[in-house]
Amino acid sequence: MPKKTPTKSKAAKKTSTPTPGPASPSVVEALRKVVADSYAVLGQTHICHWNVRGKSFFSLHTAFEAQYTELFTAVDDIAERVRALGSLAPGGLGNLSKMAGIEEIKEDATAEEMVKHLSKANKTLIADLEIARDLAGESNDNETEDLMIGRIQVHEKTVWMLDSFLAE
Ligand SMILES: [Fe+2]
Repeated sequence: MPKKTPTKSKAAKKTSTPTPGPASPSVVEALRKVVADSYAVLGQTHICHWNVRGKSFFSLHTAFEAQYTELFTAVDDIAERVRALGSLAPGGLGNLSKMAGIEEIKEDATAEEMVKHLSKANKTLIADLEIARDLAGESNDNETEDLMIGRIQVHEKTVWMLDSFLAE
């Protein structure tokens, strides 16, 4: 009986692991914008926490604190993603304010004006996050895409809560 010629098993074939390519400049720029606008929303929320007055003081003062505290951790994660992609994170209040596209609130705004303002600011940030999410998706940067999706969920929840307050 003739010997069978051994054939190469499929498992022995070389498998190729995709190596990450250089970070897309457009993804990095979109992320830097997200950092700037997240910081701006954080700052605006903090001002509202300090200056809110009226019958809703306790609930809004507490809610704003929860929002800016959550944002502080999130900005750190996003800025560190920029670093992981090989770029520098934006910093400095002057620089961040030049980059940010969030309007500023008057110090003496009413509670309702504050909630409207923050709802709009969060919606602007969601639009930035969606741009970054889509660019990351197009670049097969799943980790950045995932980070952006998570942030969109948080800010959509914030908008829901702020808009629900206005519907009272
Ligand atoms: Fe406080």
